[in-house]
Amino acid sequence: MTTHPNTIYSVIWHHDKVRLIDQTRLPAHYEMVEISRSEDMAKAIKTMIVRGAPAIGVSAAYGMYLGAREIETQNREEFLRQMEKVAKMLRQTRPTAVNLFWAISRMLKTAYETLGTVTEIKEILLETAHQLHKEDLETCIAIGDNGLSALPTTPEKLTILTHCNTGSLATTSYGTALGVIRSAWGENRLLRVYADETRPRLQGAKLTAWECQQEGIPVTVISDNMAAHCMKQGKIDAVIVGADRIAANGDTANKIGTYALAVVSKAHNVPFYVAAPLSTVDFELTDGAKIPIEERDPQELYKIGETVICPAGVDYYNPAFDVTPNEYITAIITEQGAVQPEELIQFAPKINTV
Ligand code: MRU
Repeated sequence: MTTHPNTIYSVIWHHDKVRLIDQTRLPAHYEMVEISRSEDMAKAIKTMIVRGAPAIGVSAAYGMYLGAREIETQNREEFLRQMEKVAKMLRQTRPTAVNLFWAISRMLKTAYETLGTVTEIKEILLETAHQLHKEDLETCIAIGDNGLSALPTTPEKLTILTHCNTGSLATTSYGTALGVIRSAWGENRLLRVYADETRPRLQGAKLTAWECQQEGIPVTVISDNMAAHCMKQGKIDAVIVGADRIAANGDTANKIGTYALAVVSKAHNVPFYVAAPLSTVDFELTDGAKIPIEERDPQELYKIGETVICPAGVDYYNPAFDVTPNEYITAIITEQGAVQPEELIQFAPKINTV
């Protein structure tokens, strides 16, 4: 594990509130937002104050606890009924990242399975949210270690291209794909990161570049349409991306643009890795065709910052994610090891119990 004095924690439990780094304000402003109500947590997830599949999952778990805390009844059945409503509100925030649904289910299951008073259930719910929080960091560190062994052995120092933000901001700390990159940097195996800017919300330019800069990791920002050119020039040794939902056969939904990156990686013989916790795998989906793809506000396309870049009234299509078919993926790096997409299924029984 590589520790660094500038370690970033995107989700913090502090004095009975959740503190989130406001990711809509970076890199210009580093600000924390305090959340003490479940409704505000739902809003924070929807507006992407907090984003990235694992970070959304842990935030939703805390959102479930905040919702539990707001419920006044001491009647167990009524309490559980109201918890279902909190779960429904949180589930409606973002459709693609399965970690959200996974964390909410784990919290609900805990509520149902805890025998005892409503007060006791609330206490256990907070402990469960803390547990998910702790597991997230441990999982990311394991992914980092497993990623290191999966990376190409030559050249000695790799130049790795990544897409979107999959680091400490997208998890609760350390990261998945960026966690592997961080581990490679810690082990002296990284020369440089290339960060796709990641239109339309620019998570690569704004967040990945910021994170790398905070930790002294050499980073070069490129616009999304430069990746093939960089590969053709031999600048890229490997690509590592994260995931929002992986189907049982390894088809992977991730930030829009990932699929194009996978296709150009294959065309240039550049290994293409997906790094994600097993909580991102939806074993109920046999392939990626049924993964729900979030469509977002057209303003994300019409504007860069406050500058309007399209003629008024022009039509739009703004899917936030795409699905990369498994045949483009060299390996999927999880906390249990790096496997070929078709081998992922071996992990199904272990986690499919929520
Ligand atoms: O829309 P976002 O910013 O939440 O999308 C994030 C991504 O697509 C990440 O690559 C993914 O969640 C993995 S984060 C470890």
